[in-house]
This record gives sequence, structure tokens and C-alpha cells, in this order.
Amino acid sequence: MTFILGLKMLSKPDTARNGNLIAAAGMVLAIFATIFLYKDSEGNHLHNLIWIFLALAIGTVIGWIMAKRVQMTAMPQMVSFFNGMGGACAAIISIIEYNHLNHVLATTTMTPEMSASYQGKILIILAGLIIGTVSFSGSIIAYGKLEGKIGDFSIKGQQVVNIGLLLAILVSSVLFYLGVINGTFWFYIILLVSVMYGVLFVFPIGGADMPVVISLLNSFTGVAAACGGFLYNNYVMLIGGILVGSAGTILTVSMCKAMNRSLLNVLVGNFGGGTAAASTGSTAGGSTKEITKSDAAILMKYAKKVVIVPGYGLAVAQAQHTCHELETILEESGVEVKYAIHPVAGRMPGHMNVLLAESNVSYDKLIEMEDINPEFATTDVVLVVGANDVVNPAAKTDPSSPIFGMPILEVENAKNVIVMKRSMKAGYAGIDNALFYQPKTYMLFGDAKDTLVKLVNEVKSL
Ligand code: TAP
Repeated sequence: MTFILGLKMLSKPDTARNGNLIAAAGMVLAIFATIFLYKDSEGNHLHNLIWIFLALAIGTVIGWIMAKRVQMTAMPQMVSFFNGMGGACAAIISIIEYNHLNHVLATTTMTPEMSASYQGKILIILAGLIIGTVSFSGSIIAYGKLEGKIGDFSIKGQQVVNIGLLLAILVSSVLFYLGVINGTFWFYIILLVSVMYGVLFVFPIGGADMPVVISLLNSFTGVAAACGGFLYNNYVMLIGGILVGSAGTILTVSMCKAMNRSLLNVLVGNFGGGTAAASTGSTAGGSTKEITKSDAAILMKYAKKVVIVPGYGLAVAQAQHTCHELETILEESGVEVKYAIHPVAGRMPGHMNVLLAESNVSYDKLIEMEDINPEFATTDVVLVVGANDVVNPAAKTDPSSPIFGMPILEVENAKNVIVMKRSMKAGYAGIDNALFYQPKTYMLFGDAKDTLVKLVNEVKSL
């Protein structure tokens, strides 16, 4: 119940923190209940308590330090690392239980019922081994790529190799299950091929697509953990695993939908990979108008309603605090200020919510895309801070655009649009933006933080 309640509360910014705590409290309860109340089929409680508590203490200290130290922009890689550890745990459970099963097999005479249960267990052990290992190795590669420790890498015919490896895993598992091949040697071969598949599956995926891949791997870990729940007859582990598996799948699908891309396209498309983003794509063309900081300040200070559209550039420039400062002084001058939040603005789910919450922007000012879109017609000034694709009208008007069909923030309906970015370079999708050339759009070039600091001073001086 705490997991379900926690997940539900995580879907809104103002309840997310408490939702996280409630789910974590449920997990603590589950861990201690398992340690002290669990009995195996012979009625024995867990032993080795010293080792268990030592491991818990080490894990808690490492997790705590990592979570305290992590920069907001490095959050995706930490999630990926933790997810990889979950996958590794699930795979280790399978290895240990396989060895245990072999030991039982060698020391007891099998009855037909025991033999049927053995087959069932082998199936779950194999599933946990394969899914957990793919999730572990894939997540570690994703972590390395996001940390900049591993570059994009692909070999010729990569997709064929990947499909070959996947088939090898499936065929060898079926043969293993049927007993055509058996023994520890083949078990570890399946493990090895799964490691290779996890690595090669994530390696060629474009760096900017990593959040989708991490979410997918997260759902794999959930399913692998659920296998452990089956093996130990532990309902909490089973339910927890299924919830993680389904939440991860839903998040993956929602991210793909919000980008208007299929999961297959994300996995094999190499979209937004490396440095390719800025150089490809169609050109909207036309001429742009620049605005000075003082004119931008005047436009906003004497407006009735200003909507700020934050994007990836806000996160890069770490300009959230200054942005909040601008919002405060505009409000003090009687301007109504709101933030328009696109579901895939930035590079991870909820990126803008997390960033703005960090600078204490009130949650009721963060307006979701569906709710803010009808409001643009009555907005005097839209200030786009480091956003690009999420305000690109090509998504609605140009069927040949790679983002055609992606729902966007319809800022072009406002009376004036100020776009704050460093250059005319493209965003993640690598395409030009017709918004920049529209008559009511003004470009305000510069780093988001520097420009916002200057803008705040200009507004103050008016
Ligand atoms: P983008 O389209 O990536 O555009 C960001 C813009 O910020 C760039 O055009 C860049 O232009 C500007 N910028 C970068 N650093 C800056 C700085 N220091 N100061 C000012 N501007 C700066 O961002 P978006 O509009 O937020 O859209 C997000 C994109 O990421 C979407 O295409 C989405 O599909 C994709 N994506 C999102 C997610 C999630 S879950 N959020 C996951 C995967 C992919 P300059 O270089 O000219 O400054």
C-alpha cells in the first residue's frame, strides 16, 4: 500500500517529496519484516544477521553520500547506477539460487512433484538472471556515457549482432530449460551472453536518448526483482518488482509519446547522439530580430501577464535561482507570472519541476502544457529560457519535420515572444525553429544565467 500511495503522490510536484518518503518507509518496513519474520519451507528464520546488517549499513552509507553529493544535472546517471545495482542483485539471487538448487538436487532423491517445482524454479532463475544481467550491464554503460567516461560506439552491422545475441540468449535458455543443455558451464555462458547483450544494446544509443533507455532498464530491473519475489515466495518483493516494472514501462511509453517517437526509433535511431544534434535537420529560414536587455525589461515590467518557458538551457546555465528572482520582482511590480512546463523539456522526466522546486518557485505557478496552452492568447510576453524543440511550431505545421506530431507549447499565440539562448544553434532534435523568425519573436542572445542577472538589474532600475 505504501508503494502504491508513494507512486501516486510522486505524480504531482507538491506531494512528490512525501510520496518518496512514504514509499521508502514501506521499503524499510518490508526489509525488516523479511529479516525478522521470514521463514523458509523448513520453518527456519534468516541467519547470518551480522552479515546482513553489515551490508545494509555499507549500502546505506554509500547511497546516502552519493545522493547528498549529486548535482541535479547528474541525477540521470545516478539513477542509472542505482538501477544497475538492482539488476546486479537480481542476477546474483539467480546465481545463488541456481547453485542452491544444484546442491539440493545432488543430495536428495527427486519425487515427480519436486521435479515439476525444479523446472518452475529454473524458469524463474533464468528470467531473473537474463533480465537482471542485461539491466546491470546496460545501466553501467548508460552511466558511463552520461558521465562522459564512455563515448558513442557502434560496430558495422550492430543491430544484426544485437538481434543475434538476443536470439542466442532465447535459444540457449529454452534448451537449458528443456534440459538439452545443462550444468553450470551453460548457465554461465547464458550469463556472459546477457552481459554482452546489455553492453551492446546501450552502446550505440545516442547520448540524449539515455533517459528513455534508463527508464526502460529500470522496468527490466523491476521484472528481475519480481522473479526474486517468486523464488522466495516474498509478496512484497514480487509486488514491488511488478510496480517498478510497470511504472518504468509507463514512463518509457509517455516519454516516447511526448517526443512523438516510437520506442524502436529511440533504440535504433541514434537520435540526438554525440554532437550530431546541432548540425542536421531542416532550415526554417528568414530573418530574426534582436532585442536589448533594457527593452526586454521594459516589455516585461509593463506587461500584465508573463509566461516563462524553461528548457534544457536553463538547466545547463543553472539559472533557476535568477529566474525565480526575475519572477519575484516582476510580481512585485504587479505582473502575473507563470511557468509553462512541457513534459519533456530538459533531459529527464520532471527536469524543470525539480530545477524550479530547488529555487523555491511555488508549485501552483508551474502549469502543465495542456493547461497553459489556452492561456497564451491572453499572455503579453512569453520569455523562453533555453528551450527550443518544445516551442517549435514545426511540430504542428511541417509533416516532414522529425518532431511532427509532438505536442508543443503554443507560445506563438502570445502577443510577444522573447527567446533567450546563446546562438541560433538547434536543440536536441537538431532542427531549425521557425518561431525565431516570426514577426513577434525577439532574440535575446547570451548565456541564460548572465542574461537573466542583467535583466533582473534592468527591471530593478526601471
Ligand atoms: P532543446 O530543444 O534541447 O534546446 C535547448 C536550447 O538551450 C538549445 O537550443 C541551446 O541553444 C540552449 N542553451 C544551451 N545552453 C544554454 C545556456 N547556457 N544558456 C542559454 N541557452 C542555452 O531543449 P528543450 O526545448 O528543453 O527540449 C528538450 C528536448 O530534449 C526535446 O527534443 C525532448 O524530446 C528531448 N528529450 C527530453 C527528455 C526528457 S525526459 N526531458 C529525454 C530525452 C530527450 P544555444 O546553444 O544556442 O544556446
